[in-house]
Amino acid sequence: MSVFPDGTAPVKAEYLISVDPLPVPDDDAAEGGQGSRSRNGRDTTEANDGGGRNNKKRSKEEKKARQGQNKNRRFAKVRDEQDICFKVAAGTLCEFGADCKYNHDLQAYLAAKPPDLRMPTVDGLLDAGVEDAADSQPALCPIFEEFGECKYGFKCRYLSAHIRKSSSENGGTESLSLVVDEEKKARAAISAKEVNYIGGETQKLLRTKKYPFPVTDAYLLELQEADKREQEIEKERKRVKEEEREKAEAGDDTVVVAEPEQSRDSAAKVQERTAMDVTSAPQADLDTPDVPMRFSEKNRLDWKGKTYLAPLTTVGNLPFRRLCVSYGVDITCGEMGLSTSFLSGSKEEWSLVRRHPSERTFGVQIAGNKPNTLVPTAEVLARECGSHGGIDFVDVNCGCPIDLVFKTGSGSALLDAPGKLGKALIGMNKALGSIPVTLKLRTGVKDGRNTAEKLMTRAVGGGGESGWGVGCITLHGRTRQQRYTKLADWEYIRQCVDAVRAREADEDLPPIPIFGNGDCFSSHDYHSAVERYHVDGVMVGRGALIKPWIFTEIKERREWDISSRERLEGIRKLAEFGLSHFGSDTSGINTTRRYLCEALSFQYRYVPIGLLEVLPAKINDRAPRFRGRDELENLLASPNSADWVKLSEMFLGPAPEAFVFVPKHKSNAYESQG
Ligand SMILES: Cc1cc2nc3c(=O)[nH]c(=O)nc-3n(C[C@H](O)[C@H](O)[C@H](O)COP(=O)(O)O)c2cc1C
Ligand SMILES: [Zn+2]
Ligand SMILES: [Zn+2]
Repeated sequence: MSVFPDGTAPVKAEYLISVDPLPVPDDDAAEGGQGSRSRNGRDTTEANDGGGRNNKKRSKEEKKARQGQNKNRRFAKVRDEQDICFKVAAGTLCEFGADCKYNHDLQAYLAAKPPDLRMPTVDGLLDAGVEDAADSQPALCPIFEEFGECKYGFKCRYLSAHIRKSSSENGGTESLSLVVDEEKKARAAISAKEVNYIGGETQKLLRTKKYPFPVTDAYLLELQEADKREQEIEKERKRVKEEEREKAEAGDDTVVVAEPEQSRDSAAKVQERTAMDVTSAPQADLDTPDVPMRFSEKNRLDWKGKTYLAPLTTVGNLPFRRLCVSYGVDITCGEMGLSTSFLSGSKEEWSLVRRHPSERTFGVQIAGNKPNTLVPTAEVLARECGSHGGIDFVDVNCGCPIDLVFKTGSGSALLDAPGKLGKALIGMNKALGSIPVTLKLRTGVKDGRNTAEKLMTRAVGGGGESGWGVGCITLHGRTRQQRYTKLADWEYIRQCVDAVRAREADEDLPPIPIFGNGDCFSSHDYHSAVERYHVDGVMVGRGALIKPWIFTEIKERREWDISSRERLEGIRKLAEFGLSHFGSDTSGINTTRRYLCEALSFQYRYVPIGLLEVLPAKINDRAPRFRGRDELENLLASPNSADWVKLSEMFLGPAPEAFVFVPKHKSNAYESQG
């Protein structure tokens, strides 16, 4: 073991090729690089209507974000050669008839369409090889399998699974029709549908600034009036002082003791007052937003001992979260969305709130810089999604380190703006009704200047106390400045938890769940953090990206020496979930491939624990060059992005020539590693 430089994964001698560690992937770049903001995958000109008819406007924020993004990471659109009319593709009649600007010639479309794909099972694949497996397996369309019908119709690349050909009696033209499995369809309608779609009407109201915000309006007015009062008090204070001075100068010895009645700072006052009358859910009392609600009416989050998948921009998309659910994760959170983009009705941002029905506890994370944006975002989320049971919590991002977000005063910048943050949280609590608001923070902005403890003790309590009433806090044990190469500060996490518990005990507040976050990479890490650092649970980010089965390990309190075959099963599942979400037409397959590669750009970093001399594995250990126990294990460990594309081809068919994948890590260094 001593042959290893410090911080190297202790791979057993028989698997070791060289003790020189592989290059360290730059997780800071991965988190900071926004990637393509076209995160719903369906490029903006090709929305889910399939017709590509609407030209969407992009918000200023999105444009800015686009300018800042890594130009190498633009993902080219891949479309059908022929623009078939989506009505015709769905097997229905198009009302535009001959005037339609899209192609209506189905026969010609099908004749030019590339051959259907097959999605082999892992057993078929490993036991028979890719080509044979594809040929010997029955044609299956993952969407048809799940929903009993495939909305991609004739455009589906797994079409043979749901097409019926019948030639007319006199031997004339062959007629084609799409198959529907009514029984499956009925079952799926209840249990399989994704939720949290907002309608076109809502989007239009948002875009045109006509969406009603009664709770927000009332609250912002209240803040304004409080500010005004505060200014008046200040003016009065100055006047009295001035008078005093004048009198003193004139030799008058009457002492003026009249002090303005209120003298505490305005933020604290507004917060105390507003915390007392948290209003009820907007959906319940649209016209009477001032009905008071006690905090006891908020849904309590009973999260002790649960597993929580971190919000992860780009990589924490719906299919990936669904994969983690299949490995047992309890709580999932959508990718960070910008409140300004939600408010401008951005289709992309709204796609981030989509929830798969298997996500049992699901939240939406938002970034914003002040009550004016955070509170209305909470209000529209509550009304459009929360009222249908689609959102269990709304998380405020106080951790995002990226410049673009930080400079606008959002993300980790809020750590240094407790006044604004508090006002925003109290307003959000009103706007969200019974839905709790949660907080995700870093320890501070600058190294050596931690601010989380103070914030966290102010964040708890509400309804009579001068707290902000948050329902859960997650603390990532790093400052904004700190790089991923340094370990998270769990001692400080414990200090913060203890401080919150002390305040709760002092003021007889019901305890809220507190999650720690940072470097959890094994069942051992999770459970020992709970024991040693007093947290209720641990949020897992990169650990889940590198080994999504970590949630099974945590649940079953064991370290799982997963086989390469089992890992490939997971990759197949992710491909299937991708098609189900992004679509099984050419464009959907391309998007699925892209996100599958995103996932593989983390998964290759897993060093099979069966190869290790010492357990548990540590997240920051650098892998030496090693050989796996079989060919597939070697392939899965490849840092070469061409191999990730190869893996995608096993399930999604050949990648188009134009397909290039550049991972979020600025990882050109890997290419030469092949
Ligand atoms: C690729 C990537 C994307 C991330 N995106 C978000 C995000 O959208 N919102 C957020 O609060 N944190 C985000 N984070 C931070 C993680 O949620 C988490 O706090 C961090 O990775 C530390 O946990 P870990 O050590 O378990 O990875 C991201 C991190 C990574 C690596
Ligand atoms: Zn048409
Ligand atoms: Zn299909």
